[in-house]
Amino acid sequence: PSGAELADDGSLTLAGIDVRELAEQQGTPAFVLDEADFRARARRYADAFTEAFGAVGAEVDVFYAGKAFLSVAVARWACEEGLNVDTCTGGELAVALRAEVPGARLGLHGNNKSDDEIRRAIDARVGRVVVDSLAEIERVAALAAAAGRTAEDRVPVMVRVTTGIHAGGHEFISTAHEDQKFGISLAGGQALAALDAVLAHPELELLGAHSHIGSQIQDAAAFEAAARAMLGLRAEHARTSGYLAPELDLGGGYGIAYTADETPIDVPAVARALARTVADACAELGTPVPRISIEPGRSIVGPAAVTLYRVGVVKPVTVGDGADGTFVRTYVSVDGGMSDNIRPVLYGARYTVRLANRRGADDVLRARVVGKHCESGDVVLDDVELPADVAPGDLLAVAATGAYGRSMASNYNHVLRPPVVAVRDGAARVIVRRETEDDLLALDLG
Ligand code: LLP
Repeated sequence: PSGAELADDGSLTLAGIDVRELAEQQGTPAFVLDEADFRARARRYADAFTEAFGAVGAEVDVFYAGKAFLSVAVARWACEEGLNVDTCTGGELAVALRAEVPGARLGLHGNNKSDDEIRRAIDARVGRVVVDSLAEIERVAALAAAAGRTAEDRVPVMVRVTTGIHAGGHEFISTAHEDQKFGISLAGGQALAALDAVLAHPELELLGAHSHIGSQIQDAAAFEAAARAMLGLRAEHARTSGYLAPELDLGGGYGIAYTADETPIDVPAVARALARTVADACAELGTPVPRISIEPGRSIVGPAAVTLYRVGVVKPVTVGDGADGTFVRTYVSVDGGMSDNIRPVLYGARYTVRLANRRGADDVLRARVVGKHCESGDVVLDDVELPADVAPGDLLAVAATGAYGRSMASNYNHVLRPPVVAVRDGAARVIVRRETEDDLLALDLG
């Protein structure tokens, strides 16, 4: 995070707080979230997209994708920085409502929403329900009518569309037919039919179509291709139905740097490229530019947090049978693992780690940083350099763990989920407390 600095003795400070002090006061493992960094990233999205799209005459709404990490404090920060909040379950909706995010600034996603979730979203008067199937359009309409909504008081709806463009990293591929659970395909007029299905219900207001093409995307090209496809759909729908949808949502997926060999996406540059593409495509299609929304999650909260772990057992393991190629790998065990960060195990995700409480020896060893779970695959960092004198009691800081870490955390092995500690201007505040064994036992009814 931007508030990270190294002190003269080689120890790490975050927003002016010594991590040794943080570890002492808060315990480990802990997610430490740099509030100013989160806010600045949120604001930067809003500013970059507002400016870029303003130049082509379009307004922009930025939704913070709560799935990356959501808590009451974070939902408030996002709002205070001018963002809306995107939720995809009743649970996320409940957190956002607890944070008093105005309903109009909320969205609800999900490929399998329950009636209860839809009802709560309607009652909260969310700014958009993103529908994911034809059947769901009928259910949302029925629940809207049951809630007393009418043509004068409609429930705003977007239709999730799959363009066949999937992106992540530098590659994207285009396929005519989708074979995954989200959205309604552009192919065969299905998306067009879904837009019509929304129009057919007087209690629903069709805002437009929604596209999310993937996550951890590193360049603008795939977003631009998706935008073109979606604008084509919008124009075709206007031609066939006489209704020009006022909005277009281009989803999230903006990539960040986890390791030194990755480059984060250049947000202002992507915003400008996208705005230009949208303006050009609309000019070609003869339609006015729509209001645009985007839904970044990872790129706002990911780089803003680090995980602090305490080193326990340090174990040299001789790998091989003594012949050529035999080597010693040092297993450095920390007090968390796959329960606070499943991404390395699930996706082969790589991170950056540093010794955080002191400088350490100049000599390095090759380490595999592992957790405390009863599973040999419980690896946090597969193959990294650490100072050769890394020892029990040391602190390790793993960078860029703010997104999909705490939000995907589990209680595997009845390990307690770590707290999230917000740091700002030399002060620490726990925004999500550490789980206790009492929390776990409270669920067990014997
Ligand atoms: N909007 C929609 C509709 C989404 O499905 C997602 C992410 C986002 C926005 C936010 O995408 P972001 O800007 O954070 O990339 N657990 C995986 C990531 C799953 C992303 C799912 N959808 C991971 O840890 O990499």
